[in-house]
Amino acid sequence: LPDIRNVDVSGQRVIIRADLNVPMAGGRVTDRTRIARFAPTVRALTDRGASVVILTHLGRPEGEKNPVYSTQPLAGVLSEELGQEVRFVPDCVGQLAEWNTGHLAEGEVVLLENLRFYPGEIANDRNFALRLSVHGDLYVNDAFSCAHRAHASTQAIAGLMPAYAGPSLMAEVEALKGALESPERPVAALVGGSKVSTKIDVLTNLTSKVDTLIIGGGMANTFLAALGHPMGSSLYEPDAAKVARDIMARAAARGCEIILPSDVVVAAAFAAHADNCVVPADAIPNDRMALDVGPETTARIIAAISRARTLLWNGPLGAFELEPFGAATFAVARAAAERSMAGRLVSIAGGGDTVAALNGAGVTEGFSYVSTAGGAFLEWIEGKALPGIEILTRNSTSTRVA
Ligand code: 3PG
Repeated sequence: LPDIRNVDVSGQRVIIRADLNVPMAGGRVTDRTRIARFAPTVRALTDRGASVVILTHLGRPEGEKNPVYSTQPLAGVLSEELGQEVRFVPDCVGQLAEWNTGHLAEGEVVLLENLRFYPGEIANDRNFALRLSVHGDLYVNDAFSCAHRAHASTQAIAGLMPAYAGPSLMAEVEALKGALESPERPVAALVGGSKVSTKIDVLTNLTSKVDTLIIGGGMANTFLAALGHPMGSSLYEPDAAKVARDIMARAAARGCEIILPSDVVVAAAFAAHADNCVVPADAIPNDRMALDVGPETTARIIAAISRARTLLWNGPLGAFELEPFGAATFAVARAAAERSMAGRLVSIAGGGDTVAALNGAGVTEGFSYVSTAGGAFLEWIEGKALPGIEILTRNSTSTRVA
């Protein structure tokens, strides 16, 4: 990959695609890991005399200018992490944005408004990419976690101007390559979280790559429902029942063991400290929802991890952000970190929620590698080509004067 660290950026305006898609609540950033990790990339460029224009998306505003998804609150957090003012520009294309990026002093840093306020972003629209490209002289992709998206700011723009990989993207690729090209077996994958439909394809593929597939979170509910269990008021996807059954059949055919919850913690409401109790996974009462896996399941998962040599983890086991429904996620995270620190497990975790959960358990340092990428991390595990990385590789092989 063409590495921006090998380029003289002095006096240049550098456009960086970052992934500052961080968890938010009530207009405030609730986990700043991605921002903190990104700050050194900016500092390395400003220290070398560049001015920096930051592009990011936040959430999925679907092409609408919805203020709930404004990137404005991120500018303040990034300023704190950098120890330097980051100016927010309330648009990402057009006159106002161009005026701001056209008048940058050396070392100045601006953050543009959410890219996904325009439909051209996810449509990978070349004209939209052109409108973005006028903000700088060079383009850097430092968003490994968006590299699985063929969007205007991750793919089309890289075909329009000198394009490089940023240091965080390089670090992610190097770490994952090292850990995944020939993993120590047995390999266990733990997949949880609530983005059920987006991860079902990933699960299908994992059945042929890993020895044990542990399924938790809202996704497990879809599997339990597919087995015919009553789900009460739990979150699940009835339309995905057939896919879930197909995944179980594929796993059985390939000798991949699937671990599903055998007990769950149910509550009357999706709320912290909601009235709760543990029930068997096939006996969820009508007016209760599953918010975490139970203690028996937690013990089974920990036992499965202690048999594995490599663990890939994406997605929490329960609603970890609500007390006390993070118990299983935190217990499993602690067990995995202990085994890793004892040199008995290579543990690789990825995903915004997963990172927040590991931080909550206080064990991030104990893991072998923690990636802030979610979907990109999983697609990489599947062995899929990531469009945001492919375009950089392709460009580097063509003749171009930077
Ligand atoms: C992520 O959080 O995984 C990335 O920011 C990508 O977000 P997306 O799934 O909305 O494209």
